[in-house]
Amino acid sequence: MSAQTSETPAAGTPSAAPAAAAAPGASVAAESRRTGPRPGSYVIVLFGATGDLAKRKLLPGLYHLACAGLLPDKYRIIGSAPPEYALSDAEFVAYAEKVVDRYCRIKPMGSSWDEFASRLSFGAASPQDPSPLVSAVEAAEKAIGGQPGRLYHLAVPPTAFESVIGLLGSSGLAKGDTKVIIEKPFGEDLASARELNAAVHAVFDESQVFRIDHFLGKESVDNILAFRFANGLFEPIWNRDHIRYVQIDVPETLSIEGRAGFYDATGAYRDMVVTHLFQVLGFLAMEPPTSLEARPLRDEKGKVFDALRPVDVRHVVRGQYTGYRSEPGVRPGSDTDTMVAVRVEVENWRWHGVPFYLRSGKCLAASRQLVTLGFREPPLRMFPAHRHDVPMGRVNEIVIDFADPGSIKIEFLAKKPGPEMTLGATEMKFSYDDSFAQANALEGYERLILLAMLGDQSLFTRADGIERVWEISEPLLTAPPPVEEYAPGSWGPASVDRLIAPNRWYLH
Ligand code: BG6
Repeated sequence: MSAQTSETPAAGTPSAAPAAAAAPGASVAAESRRTGPRPGSYVIVLFGATGDLAKRKLLPGLYHLACAGLLPDKYRIIGSAPPEYALSDAEFVAYAEKVVDRYCRIKPMGSSWDEFASRLSFGAASPQDPSPLVSAVEAAEKAIGGQPGRLYHLAVPPTAFESVIGLLGSSGLAKGDTKVIIEKPFGEDLASARELNAAVHAVFDESQVFRIDHFLGKESVDNILAFRFANGLFEPIWNRDHIRYVQIDVPETLSIEGRAGFYDATGAYRDMVVTHLFQVLGFLAMEPPTSLEARPLRDEKGKVFDALRPVDVRHVVRGQYTGYRSEPGVRPGSDTDTMVAVRVEVENWRWHGVPFYLRSGKCLAASRQLVTLGFREPPLRMFPAHRHDVPMGRVNEIVIDFADPGSIKIEFLAKKPGPEMTLGATEMKFSYDDSFAQANALEGYERLILLAMLGDQSLFTRADGIERVWEISEPLLTAPPPVEEYAPGSWGPASVDRLIAPNRWYLH
């Protein structure tokens, strides 16, 4: 497959204009360096402004969006945190400069930085006293003029979601043209997700709610839709007649990196599988939507979740890396999974009998983000097995690497040159790096914040979707198998290979 080098966005991808441009308040700025819609005026409030996510992703991402000409003409960004972490405006600007310098691909310099910095302020808030934030929002709106939208990004620990939502409701900040981005994990089981949805819906209409999963903002995850639905080549074989298994494999070499407070209460299944891997599965398994607008796209994803069978604990491996219990902040004798592998089934016409294997974990042998679709063998074995330099049973795989910048490989057998009919493994490859200019690429968070301002919910999780994913997880959450120890730097406990047998992990 030789890759096209056209810079035209794939027709109908959520990044292309139609879905987003229809959103109220969207306007196309002539001076933008990019094509694509640009949001109307906004006040953006970052709750958790001095936290880890704002430091590594959100402040650098907003600066990158500003430099790319994708933020509104008129905008303000207000950092917020509880009063004990309050900063002055000047301290927040200095903090932002430091983290942008460290984490953004564009350095905070010159008029671009001065311009961005002039839009920053800080407003502390607690449920008891939201007044500094209320004043900061009023000042920002006055500076912008007119009636800007308000975007609240809850980059706070999940335990704080409800109190921040309550604060927005009781302070009057939720009134008017407001949108709220809620981080993950959204709940920790079905009951808590329902409770959180009820708390959110007491203040916001579902159309204002953007449950974020940054995997869905990754170019290569979105490209799954283009790969499947913009080509006539792949969709006809995208089903149980041709596909033998699907793997979604996201191992990480990282440990918990000082996040014990969050991680020990969460574990790999909630942190990665519920949040990210099921969303990717939704894109892989969905039926063709009638369009890529939010409603049909999320309807089709929802149907996949409806078709998911409840997780069978006999098809789950929970692992914990040796030494985890000695990490600072981890509870003694903790049973938290730092790695999980699970086999799930999508019980519908297209996927009946095709296992979906999901794996993710910390301190594993490599950091990769891969989808692998393994195809059935041809019906007739006319090529003698001893003349292959590859094992039979592993011939055709489509391998989608969705770590930025991303690639897609198709693995197949070919005749080796020479007098004999001898086969060798080979591949056709598309790589974003080689085929498209990367200058326009946005990180997952950048793309999603932009879509939220445009009112485009297509890449955000809907209330019923997240509840259903928790629902099918109940058997595992209520009766988890014991964790099995694995050596840091390995691929997990040996039972991970048994889970998938007679198939094999693409990464092993
Ligand atoms: C986060 C998880 O959501 O995703 C982390 O909380 C994980 O544990 C991270 O490391 C992986 O995402 P990415 O795409 O930034 O590598």
